[in-house]
Amino acid sequence: MTFDTSQHNLRMTHFDRHDSFWLFGYGSLIWKADFPFLERRPAWIHGWCRRFWQGSHDHRGTPDAPGRVVTLTRDPYARCDGMAYRIRPEVLTQLDMREKNGYLRALVPVHFDAEQAVEGLIYLATEDNAAFLGEAPLQDMAAQIAGAHGPSGSNRDYLLNLAEALVRQGVQDQHVSTLAALLTKPA
Ligand code: BEZ
Repeated sequence: MTFDTSQHNLRMTHFDRHDSFWLFGYGSLIWKADFPFLERRPAWIHGWCRRFWQGSHDHRGTPDAPGRVVTLTRDPYARCDGMAYRIRPEVLTQLDMREKNGYLRALVPVHFDAEQAVEGLIYLATEDNAAFLGEAPLQDMAAQIAGAHGPSGSNRDYLLNLAEALVRQGVQDQHVSTLAALLTKPA
């Protein structure tokens, strides 16, 4: 199942006239920056939390056996830490293709420290997209991730790479670390 959002995203021209702007990554963009960027800085956004609630039929799973990747859900009290990249607008074309399975561009305030926030961009998969899987018991999500593979590799590697990158950055994310522990604990 694919919900190709790339054409929709191309019509979102908000930053087109900017020389550069900030893209906030909260998932694979943290550890897989395979696009040109001008600088990167640890950053966070308020009011959102990271969840393995988006299906991956094209990268970390298949249409018959989708994997699970992260999206953001609203939580007024939450803070989501990630990595911000200052990029030129033309880089978005490449990212729109990479993140086309249900993710739409959205604007958010991106914080670098307590005083400083800039308007930045995220890729967001909301619950009305066709690839959205939503919440499930953590054990079930871990089992699904453990068994899923796609053209970009195993879903397990996606989760463990993200968990490791967050630890390296000094970020505590209980949802991610609990899932990673479920995958790596001895049977
Ligand atoms: C991210 O790391 O922010 C991200 C990666 C893939 C899809 C959406 C977001």
